[in-house]
Amino acid sequence: MNLTGRELYFEPHEVIVSKTNLKGKITYANETFAQIAEIKRKDAIGKPHNFIRHPHMPKCIFKLLWDAISEGQEVFAYVLNRSTKGNEYWVFAHVTPSFDQSNKIIGYHSSRRVPNRQIVDTVIKPLYQELLKIEQSAASKKSGLENSYKTLQDTIQASGKKYNHFIMTLGE
Ligand SMILES: Cc1cc2nc3c(=O)[nH]c(=O)nc-3n(C[C@H](O)[C@H](O)[C@H](O)COP(=O)(O)O)c2cc1C
Repeated sequence: MNLTGRELYFEPHEVIVSKTNLKGKITYANETFAQIAEIKRKDAIGKPHNFIRHPHMPKCIFKLLWDAISEGQEVFAYVLNRSTKGNEYWVFAHVTPSFDQSNKIIGYHSSRRVPNRQIVDTVIKPLYQELLKIEQSAASKKSGLENSYKTLQDTIQASGKKYNHFIMTLGE
């Protein structure tokens, strides 16, 4: 995977939007998504969402995300993404399930804004580095994920808050 280490930025008035089916395949992407992911909108449709996955993102964050949305909950998360050209960009994502009239989940929707830079630099980067290190130093992928997920849960628990509340109040 080619990574340039070059960071891309978007504007505070912009929102990066995508929608997926139940399996995380993209069914909708707006122009801002396409621009920063350095892909044509039509080419993003049908791709699994992990095509912009950055290797520095710990797996446990995505486990937490999928656990929550598949149970019908919303999730807020700081995410480092990768464009098709190997550039990277930080986002603050709000991911929600979409329901049909019988309350069945039929897909997912993510809106992303510019993240608070200070929180990314002082809290998120060190936390994610620690979680990634735990994942990479484990004997197996499975135990790595179990260990990092536990560390993440312990960190949240130590704050005395639930995950979303913990994330939303990091700057306070
Ligand atoms: C609506 C929605 C939006 C998502 N947005 C992203 C995203 O911006 N970046 C990302 O890496 N994964 C995103 N994911 C999670 C991916 O589906 C996937 O779990 C993640 O990239 C980890 O990939 P992996 O399981 O291959 O390691 C999103 C999932 C959903 C349902």
